[in-house]
Amino acid sequence: MSIVDPQHSTTTTAAPTTAGNYFVANYPPFSCWTGEQVSAVQERLAHAAETPPPLGIYVHLPFCRQRCDFCYYKVYTDKNAREIARYLDCVAAELKRYAEQPYLAGRKPSFVYYGGGTPSYLSSDQIEKLFAAVRAAFPCDAVEEITFECEPGTLTEKKVAVLRSLGVTRVSLGVEHFDPEILALNNRAHRAVEIDRAWGMLRAAGFPQINLDLISGMVGETDERWRRTIERTLELHPDQITIYQMEIPYNTTIYQRMKAGEAEVAPVADWETKRRWSEEAFQALGRAGYLRGSAYTALASSEARFLYRDALWHGSDLVPIGVSSFGHLGGVHLQNEHRFEPYIERVEKGELPIHRAYQLSADERLIRELVLQLKLGRVRATAFQEKFGVDPARALRRGPARA
Ligand SMILES: C[S@@+](CC[C@H](N)C(=O)[O-])C[C@H]1O[C@@H](n2cnc3c(N)ncnc32)[C@H](O)[C@@H]1O
Ligand code: SF4
Repeated sequence: MSIVDPQHSTTTTAAPTTAGNYFVANYPPFSCWTGEQVSAVQERLAHAAETPPPLGIYVHLPFCRQRCDFCYYKVYTDKNAREIARYLDCVAAELKRYAEQPYLAGRKPSFVYYGGGTPSYLSSDQIEKLFAAVRAAFPCDAVEEITFECEPGTLTEKKVAVLRSLGVTRVSLGVEHFDPEILALNNRAHRAVEIDRAWGMLRAAGFPQINLDLISGMVGETDERWRRTIERTLELHPDQITIYQMEIPYNTTIYQRMKAGEAEVAPVADWETKRRWSEEAFQALGRAGYLRGSAYTALASSEARFLYRDALWHGSDLVPIGVSSFGHLGGVHLQNEHRFEPYIERVEKGELPIHRAYQLSADERLIRELVLQLKLGRVRATAFQEKFGVDPARALRRGPARA
């Protein structure tokens, strides 16, 4: 059995959605990163680089109105105004501390990504202060892309105007689905009518790029409901569309329920069905003129860009700011404290709140970029040869031995 709605089609036992993470976010995976290797980040930060790669900043805003049943991100729904203000002060302090490190001093970021959680949960005043903190720490005159993630029900006319005036170039809107019943079944905070309201405000404000997130295989999904969601998406005609396939990691509410009921298979469609829904969606988008950007994305035109992703997947530096945030500096992976209080305490003590890290070997750097770029569905072997001086196929055969 694989789907919760018995009135609708699509039950198969082919590849049930068992719990766990499937999305490939990094290589080597987080489980290899250790506290001992934090010294490798400190060593990297202590010296300026002669020809550093492009630089980006990721700021994690972990607050949400309510927790979606499927969500595996580090989010809090119980923080009061005082705690959020304290968190934002820590973000500003962390930014400043990074900007003082020899490896980063004077460098100009080319992209900034505000992710969550729900960045748009913040008030307009808090958003203005946050952007000012980034500008105070780093010279921002070379920033080409600023992404800001939004949950539809949190947007107001004022907030949208503030985001536009602060130079946000790419809004990413978490729609997930257009069916009111599916939104409610999955404990989304926003309602279907709020999507239309948010969309109207964002389009009227004239953001250069609007991305819309969808998930194939939410609890209660059916062929018919998914088809209608794709039709509705096409009516809005977003610049970019990201379609995730629903996964059930161990820290989700859905998994906790499965555990309590001792069910082995998640109450969502099996992988075969989710893949089919995703592919049907990409085919419909293709027929409507969209281009395939990657395994998960479609682009309205060849001008649509996602610099954060492209830079990161080609080895750029990324400064991770905020609780549990992860980044990459000069061939070293790093992740911050993943619990709220230790994060706050370490920043307030004047430390960089790095919790674990991993120093990549030369081969591992190549494999990391290869693994990430494979998600684009195309890889230029010659580019790897030029950059790393190694044939990627040979490096793969050698495996991740340290260089
Ligand atoms: C940080 S959220 C986006 C901003 C905002 N928090 C929201 O949800 O509207 C990032 C995206 O991850 C996706 N996501 C979250 N949990 C997922 C899961 N278990 N499986 C697949 N995609 C998931 C959703 O599409 C979501 O929009
Ligand atoms: S999917 Fe978005 S809104 Fe829902 S809990 Fe996760 S971060 Fe918050």
